[in-house]
Parts: sequence; C-alpha cells; structure tokens
Amino acid sequence: MKKIPVGILGATGMVGQRFVSLLENHPWFDVVCLAASPQSAGKTYAAAVANRWRLSTSIPNYAKKMKVYAVEYDLSTIAKEVRLVFCALDMEKDAIKALEIAYAEQGVAVVSNNSAHRWTSDVPMIMPEINPEHTDLIHAQRKRRGWDQGLIIVKPNCSLQSYIPIIKALALFNPTKIEVTTLQAISGAGKTFTSWPEMLDNCNPYISGEEEKTEKEPLKILGTIGKDVVKLAKKPRISATCIRVAVADGHMASVAVKFVKKPTMQQVVSAVTRYKNPIRALHLPTAPDPFIRYFAEDNRPQTNLDRDLGEGMTIACGRFREDPLFDWKFISLSHNTIRGAAGGAILTAELLKAKKLI
Ligand SMILES: NC(=O)c1ccc[n+]([C@@H]2O[C@H](COP(=O)([O-])OP(=O)(O)OC[C@H]3O[C@@H](n4cnc5c(N)ncnc54)[C@H](OP(=O)(O)O)[C@@H]3O)[C@@H](O)[C@H]2O)c1
Repeated sequence: MKKIPVGILGATGMVGQRFVSLLENHPWFDVVCLAASPQSAGKTYAAAVANRWRLSTSIPNYAKKMKVYAVEYDLSTIAKEVRLVFCALDMEKDAIKALEIAYAEQGVAVVSNNSAHRWTSDVPMIMPEINPEHTDLIHAQRKRRGWDQGLIIVKPNCSLQSYIPIIKALALFNPTKIEVTTLQAISGAGKTFTSWPEMLDNCNPYISGEEEKTEKEPLKILGTIGKDVVKLAKKPRISATCIRVAVADGHMASVAVKFVKKPTMQQVVSAVTRYKNPIRALHLPTAPDPFIRYFAEDNRPQTNLDRDLGEGMTIACGRFREDPLFDWKFISLSHNTIRGAAGGAILTAELLKAKKLI
C-alpha cells in the first residue's frame, strides 16, 4: 500500500516531537514535511531541536536531516507535498484558525490539537472510540466551504480524555452531574522540570482556560449530529477544578458522578470493562486494546505505572466507590501528550482513512 504523505506543523514543540516519534514507521503515514516558526525554518530538524528535545527516546533518524519549513511562509510548498497535516502549533488562536483554513483550502486534511476550531460549528471534535460518527460532519463541512479534499477535524482538550471515556461507558445509567478535579502533568504546558524548575515539589491551582474546556467540550463530544452541525448534549452538567502537579507526563482525574438510575458496583464494573468500542472492528494501527483498563486494586491507577498502557493510548481507571453526595466516584488516567495529543490525533487520522475521508 502506498503511504499517505503527511506533515507536522509545530514539529519542534513538545507535542510536535511526540508526532515525529510516534509516526516513525507508521504503516499508513509517511512524514514528508516538518514545519515550525521562522526561527526554526531553514535548519535541519536535529539542529532546530538541539538542546530542546524533550522525549526520553532519541530523535528518530528519518527526521534528523529533514529541513524545517516555515508554517506560514512555505504554506503552498507544504500543501503540494502532503495530503494531511497534524497541527501542534502554539500561536495566537485567530492566527491558527486562519492558517488551518488556508491549509484546508489548498486541499489538505488538517487534524488539529489546537483549540482554535473546537467551537466552529461544522468542525467535528473527535475522540475516536467515543464519537467516530461525528466524522460524517465532514461531508457537510466540505459542501458548505466548497472543499473537495480539504477538511478540518479537531481533538478535544487533554484534560478530559481521562474521564470522559468512563462517563461514556456509564451512559446507560444517565449521568446528570459530575464534579471532576484533574491533576495535570507539566508536559501539558509544553514543559519539563528543567524548563520549569518551580514545579518541582509543587502544585499550582491555576491552568488558564482549562476548567472551561473541561466543563464544556464533553457536551460537544457527547452531542449528536444534526443536519450540518453538532447538537450539544444537555447533560451531564460538569464542574471542574484543574491543578498542575509535579508530574512529568500523565493527567489523572478524580471524578464524582450522579446518575438518574444509580448502578450497582457490579453494573459499573461490567459497563467499564465491556464498553462496546465502536471502532474496534476497524483494527486501526494505533488503537489500543483494551481502550479502557479497569483496576480493582485500591492503589491503581498510578501515574508512572499506568500512563504508558497500550503505548500511552489506553485509559486507566479504578477506585470506584460510593459517594455520600453523588452516587459513585472514581479515579482515571491518560497520557496527555500521547492519548491526549499526538497519539489521539494520529488515531483520528487513521479513522479518517478507514472512513475514506482522506
Ligand atoms: N502539551 C500537551 O500535553 C498538549 C495536549 C493537547 C494539546 N496541546 C496543544 O498543542 C499545541 C502545541 O503544544 P506544545 O505543548 O507542543 O507547545 P510548544 O512546545 O510550545 O510548541 C509550539 C510549536 O509551535 C511553533 N510556533 C510557535 N509560534 C509560531 C509561529 N508564530 N509560527 C509558526 N510556528 C510557531 C513552535 O515552533 P518553534 O519551535 O520554531 O518556535 C513549536 O513548534 C498547543 O496548542 C497546545 O494547547 C498540548
């Protein structure tokens, strides 16, 4: 099979480096283009990330000598070389919005980690194992915007990917109210302990914009497809507190849920362990099996033991116990730069290919 040529916008950053690493030897995608800011453009990738390669694995050989393009200046050159770009830029939102549209107008499929288009009405926000049917919106998006080949699809914020899968698995019992506290790794801010030493031995109670995203984005993911927009779910109502903690990678969530019909413990465990993963039959290359891993042990999931389950794509959960104010509470965990960013975007692109949208 001929591989699909892809590019990475923001290839030099924390999430971009994950893309470069995860896409090495991908069976369907071939990275032909790496791009970043004018400050990195023109350098080899190895030179552009010298002294700021943040992963524990080394820079993949295929990428070292590739020339880094400028995301904006080289747009038309990049668009001629690729069929799809993964966007991991950190720029001003309006600039990203305009750039993603410009790439799609040139016939490129844009799979974005950025929040710029998450609330654009004809742009689906996807977690592949939860709402793969929302990709159907792409047909209306293309028709409305006059795009034959281009498209824009986005991933949700990393903070909610650890707990929304569990809520979806429990949807049968009609969750109405959620209180969630997230404990988020410093890589979520593009940092390491070297670049952010103040976070050693520390918790920071404020992450700009994170609580709003954690409360609102689930309503789009759990919504239904209307004629040419997503109709937002009305429930559950969510209250979120997001805290930065002294952890390198992995976002944990402590969640309490109220249901219309309170399930028994046996029903909870059965719903979580037998979640009917809607994309399982597609056998996508990076889809984890299982999607959700349940732990019965009281001291699991733990961040550094469980964030890499399923190559960082599995959602771990446990500590289900009855709650005196809500019905049930639990702990869940996901890898923020893999499942919550680059890995989740790659799985989304695989879904687009399986659905013949690219
Ligand atoms: N980290 C996570 O866990 C996570 C999870 C989900 C989503 N996200 C989202 O993913 C995006 C990237 O996050 P990150 O943590 O990887 O950020 P980062 O490490 O700061 O990297 C930012 C990237 O954007 C590029 N860039 C910055 N300004 C630019 C400009 N004016 N023109 C072109 N390129 C520019 C940088 O290129 P240079 O190196 O050349 O400056 C770099 O490649 C953000 O929108 C973030 O919200 C992050």
